[in-house]
Amino acid sequence: MIEVVGVNGALSEAHEARISPLDRGFLYGDSVYETVRTYGGRPFLLDRHLDRLQRSAEAIGLDTARVPVDPGRAVREALDRAGAGAGGEAAIRIILSRGTGGIGYDDADCGPPTLVVHVRPCPLIPDSWRREGVDVAIVDVRRNAAEALDPAIKSSNLLNNLLAWRAARRLGAYEPILLDAAGAIAEGASSNIFIVQEGRLLTPALSVGILRGITRDVVIDRARSDGIPVEESVLEAGRLARADEAFLTSTLKGVLPIRRVDGWPIREGRPGPLTRRIAALYDALTQDETKAASAPEASRR
Ligand code: PDD
Repeated sequence: MIEVVGVNGALSEAHEARISPLDRGFLYGDSVYETVRTYGGRPFLLDRHLDRLQRSAEAIGLDTARVPVDPGRAVREALDRAGAGAGGEAAIRIILSRGTGGIGYDDADCGPPTLVVHVRPCPLIPDSWRREGVDVAIVDVRRNAAEALDPAIKSSNLLNNLLAWRAARRLGAYEPILLDAAGAIAEGASSNIFIVQEGRLLTPALSVGILRGITRDVVIDRARSDGIPVEESVLEAGRLARADEAFLTSTLKGVLPIRRVDGWPIREGRPGPLTRRIAALYDALTQDETKAASAPEASRR
């Protein structure tokens, strides 16, 4: 598979792709995005990602009727050009910016929007991380308030997350956990978080100010239909260290157990039974997708 970029439908190898320095995505972070991955060469839950892209665009007043190409089609064409499917799984980033305009916040004369689709080989999570878990750290950088830049918007304005990520790396952790201004657990820099307490799954409520992760939604649905109680609530920071188990969820991470928080092991530093059960439920879903993709009748993605 090669790394491919489509800019408003024009495909090229990633290193040849160009957008204008006057694109507002570059100038102001005035853009929204999605990360999708394939299973069996097919973009997993693409419709849900495109729906969320639409919602994010609406939330920043970006007129999607003016997008020059159909995002779903742009994704499929980029995957074909990259040779995805034959040579492993792909990670896809879809970026939608308000387009090119002059310097200044006035966007009256700007656009049309720029749709960028980037396809690359999917970064794989080592098996040992799935078996043993990863380390997280609660960092000083707080999740921005919903009244500032609402975390429900999947915005490419990611400096807040990036600074949190850098803080985690300085602490030797894989993923930072950000708290909200009041000290409640919000989410990771690029993941949602769940804890297990006395046989129940607990996860920060959307009202805390988090991204409504698609993997989070899937995990909540699957857990409930498997008879596991799930509560969306406000969880103060100390709950994480005292959890029986904890895990992260995201499109690229899947269900990833947490081994240590701020250097302290959770459950003697080994993934617990409920985390393993949730990971198995999620795996089954992605394996179904992979099998469906290779079935003879699967002629189109
Ligand atoms: N990140 N929270 C944040 C802040 C995220 O950036 C992400 C996704 C998630 C999980 O959402 P989902 O399950 O829909 O992937 C939660 C993607 C993977 C990224 O930044 O590339």
